[in-house]
Amino acid sequence: MQQDMILIIDLGSEQNAMLAREIRDLGVYSEIHPHDITKNALDALPNVKGIILNGGANRVVNGIEIDASEAVYSSSIPVLAFDHKGAPCFPADQNERKALLSDFVFNKCKAEANWNMENFINDQVELIRRQVGDGKVLLALSGGVDSSVVAALLIKAIGNKLTCVHVNHGLLRKGEPEQVVSVFGKELGANLVYVDATDRFLDKLAGVADSEQKRKIIGAEFIRVFEEEARKLDGISFLAQGTIYPDIIESGTKTAKAVKAHHNVGGLPDDLKFELVEPLKMLFKDEVRACGAALGLPDSMVYRQPFPGPGLGVRCLGAITRDRLEAVRESDAILREEFAKNGLAGKVWQYFTAIPDFRSVGVRDNARCYDWPVIIRAVNTVDAMTASIEEIDYAILHKITNRILNEVSGVNRVLYDLSPKPVATIEWE
Ligand code: XMP
Repeated sequence: MQQDMILIIDLGSEQNAMLAREIRDLGVYSEIHPHDITKNALDALPNVKGIILNGGANRVVNGIEIDASEAVYSSSIPVLAFDHKGAPCFPADQNERKALLSDFVFNKCKAEANWNMENFINDQVELIRRQVGDGKVLLALSGGVDSSVVAALLIKAIGNKLTCVHVNHGLLRKGEPEQVVSVFGKELGANLVYVDATDRFLDKLAGVADSEQKRKIIGAEFIRVFEEEARKLDGISFLAQGTIYPDIIESGTKTAKAVKAHHNVGGLPDDLKFELVEPLKMLFKDEVRACGAALGLPDSMVYRQPFPGPGLGVRCLGAITRDRLEAVRESDAILREEFAKNGLAGKVWQYFTAIPDFRSVGVRDNARCYDWPVIIRAVNTVDAMTASIEEIDYAILHKITNRILNEVSGVNRVLYDLSPKPVATIEWE
């Protein structure tokens, strides 16, 4: 490993992830470790130049106030402690915090600002080669940011020892499966298995109106298809996953309760157990994007907006039908195209269309029509817990509306959803 590291010992502060983030922004790598880290574990961490102890609201665990282990206190590495007697207070102001961290990291610890994507990629290539050896690796490549960056990194490290499986569940956005095939299959020359499972998914979903039921079916069927493909391949002993640092942090630490269980391709049967390869597990989302860009992936893949796992399945409301699914896919493509043309694509956090399962009366070519409405959603948020709507210029809304009404068959109305979250959610179901 080439980078210097600042270690954050988790004493129950909710600010630890932010601290790690801010230290990395100074150009120095940082990781969060549990308070009871052993001497062996500490010694095994490469290039630790400084340790930060930051106690917080969750410092009392099972009635006992936790403290850092003896290994931490007896090491000769410089320590910055925030809630000990006489220690500085943790500054709420970002600039003050930056000045304090910068003084500690560079003046006291003499750390070098050598955390960058080139070093990260070189280190990971080395680590992946060491872990995998002559083995073969399997990856479920959805085409989302995380799995795409894992694929690009593994192709660089081990080339054809990686097999990517792209399951097209028929609920992807327009052009997505084609982009996966062209970027990974053609340009990067990956070993790519492309499975068009559209009919299978849509048959399973036929008549299912409940959104949670739809999510369950899509998730379970995905694992089934992936498992079938995995069984056809010989000699695979590793499974690569696009796990990122927030997944690890959110799945719970010794001081914090799990926010959500982390799993990407969880739920594989026992006889298909692989050793995991998770090269992005220490990266925050924007670092994952920077890594993808440094590996040469197209911007449209690396900087794309979040897209739910069940895809258009939760935007074709109620029981999914092929005509409405096509209409949601086509209207979404028009929305994305117009957003890109008008400089909104990089500005708005998430934008898409949804189609309800009821129709309304309209008039087309002098005759009564009974067609579907399309709902436009465009929201901004930091963490998806709350969201506000983007105030799209009327001229742009008119253009999008006219295009959808003229180009998407079976649609006679376009609506713009003005509801913030809460009370609404971002998705319609
Ligand atoms: P809501 O609708 O809950 O959405 O306000 C918040 C964020 O989560 C995304 N979302 C999902 N992502 N599987 C996912 O991977 C899902 O089932 C799912 N449902 C919602 C949504 O797109 C938004 O970014």
